[in-house]
Amino acid sequence: MKGVILAGGTGTRLYPLTKIINKHLLPVGNFPMICHGIEKLQSAGIKEILLVISKQSAGLYTELLGGGREWGVRLTYKIQEEAGGIAQALSLAESFMKPDEKFLVLLGDNLFEDSLTTYVQSFQKQKKGARILLKKVHDPERYGVPILEENTILRIEEKPENPKSDFCVTGIYMYDTTVFDKIRGIKPSGRGELEITDVNNVYAAEGQLAYDVLDGWWTDAGTFKSLHQASDWLLK
Ligand code: G1P
Repeated sequence: MKGVILAGGTGTRLYPLTKIINKHLLPVGNFPMICHGIEKLQSAGIKEILLVISKQSAGLYTELLGGGREWGVRLTYKIQEEAGGIAQALSLAESFMKPDEKFLVLLGDNLFEDSLTTYVQSFQKQKKGARILLKKVHDPERYGVPILEENTILRIEEKPENPKSDFCVTGIYMYDTTVFDKIRGIKPSGRGELEITDVNNVYAAEGQLAYDVLDGWWTDAGTFKSLHQASDWLLK
């Protein structure tokens, strides 16, 4: 299975750190953030990885990671020219995939404890559709929140004022290649972006959105607080 790590974006919530360097290259624990994601994919057997990055710091990524040999992976880079949302960034992966391939997508700022191995194996057994990973959190309103009924996801609401569950949708997604047609079918949201939640809701409407729940710690390191929290956890 191949992997895609989305590591572009402007990281405005971490300004001014992100004025001079892309968010995913900031230190977390003993490594630049991006390295943790690469290690998680590699140890789950995903060795062929596309990194979607922005123009900012593009040279630093190749300086740090090269072709990926040191990490036991093969890296390909693609530049997201404009910030158009997660689904827009993901659409850049289409030419990286064979027509019937299944793959894992990781948002580069998602840091977590669990190994991905068993989740990837479950998705490999799944004939088609998508599989996402959820995590129980105390502040679901900050995230995509699933509406669950009898072990199925009916729908996901993006940053709802009144969350209908205490789970969040993490930035770890597994898709079949129908995802690219689904992205073409969605419209930009109020914030002018192609939302990954809208894509996942197309799968949910087809009854093709499976999920697992992460056991260990998880955070998206997009704020100063969560960045420090992730470092603390990793150093422990
Ligand atoms: C994005 C997704 C959201 C998800 C989160 C996980 O949010 O839109 O559904 O819960 O990543 O990190 P954003 O970071 O774009 O606010």
